Amino acid sequence: MNFTGAHILSIQQFEQADIEAIFNVADAMLPYARRQKATRVLEGAIMGNMFFEPSTRTRVSFGSAFNLLGGNVRETTGFESSAIAKGESLYDTARVLSGYSDVVCMRHPQAGSVGEFAKASRVPVINGGDGSNEHPTQALLDLYTIRKELASNGRDINGARIAMIGDLKYGRTVHSLCKLLNLYKGMRISLVSPKELSMPAELVEMMRENGHQVTVSDELSSSITNVDIAYSTRIQEERFQTREEADLYRGRFRLNQSIYTQFCEPNTVIMHPLPRDSRSEANELDSDLDENPNLAIFRQADNGVIVRMALFAMVLDVVHLVDKHTHDVRWFPGIGR
Ligand code: CP
Repeated sequence: MNFTGAHILSIQQFEQADIEAIFNVADAMLPYARRQKATRVLEGAIMGNMFFEPSTRTRVSFGSAFNLLGGNVRETTGFESSAIAKGESLYDTARVLSGYSDVVCMRHPQAGSVGEFAKASRVPVINGGDGSNEHPTQALLDLYTIRKELASNGRDINGARIAMIGDLKYGRTVHSLCKLLNLYKGMRISLVSPKELSMPAELVEMMRENGHQVTVSDELSSSITNVDIAYSTRIQEERFQTREEADLYRGRFRLNQSIYTQFCEPNTVIMHPLPRDSRSEANELDSDLDENPNLAIFRQADNGVIVRMALFAMVLDVVHLVDKHTHDVRWFPGIGR
């Protein structure tokens, strides 16, 4: 695809060559993310960061990525601090804000809303998550991480064995990840969830039609044996009518060091898009895994910065200029150590 000026709304707009291109640029961004050098290539550019749902990683890593390329960030968080709270439409909001920005990143609770916003926008829009629909930049950083972790174990993405665990109905990260994995071949995918929170049937069918071997289960232990990647997800409490309804599913797929030792292979990589629910009743991904070298969740979150830097550089067509606008890092570069 031609990235210049493009909206990034869904994984379905990509071909495998596009993914390779993004990951190559992401690799080139690593020295900047590690503060080994700095660039001003986007000096003067403004990114509108509009988050109408809570976010730590996506919002801040979009902002950091843009800052690392030399650009400025203007944030809007929550409906209450936007004129949408006064009844302004997404169309009007997009027409106005795209006059103030060179690119807009957006998260919104309704599926399809970021695409609707993009139709009215005069600048590229990047989807930071639209309801339970998609989270394409998360899937890109997830796949980047999966490839890197597999490579360190001498394995390739084609033929990989991946378990996705938890709320697969409302989890937009796994919806986008399934679409992304479908660009590759010969995978064994285990989908582990309560029956009521299973992966949408059309995504299961899509992966089977592509030749992936897909199993569906509501039992954790047998599903995490013989996998390269165990990708856990949070119960998406905010998509349920009541907290009590979400409580019915909490703790059903607890992964801790004891369960890992008993059922996983020694090199199984543990991933999670985060946030993990660390409240005591959640029993999701226990902190006793934090010292496990195969816990990749923080490497995964770090990878979000370079993947998002790559998207900004490609959409704003400055990939070839990034290295021409470098300068020395003058501060103590703790992050790169
Ligand atoms: N993974 C993710 O989307 O995290 P945030 O909700 O913190 O952005």
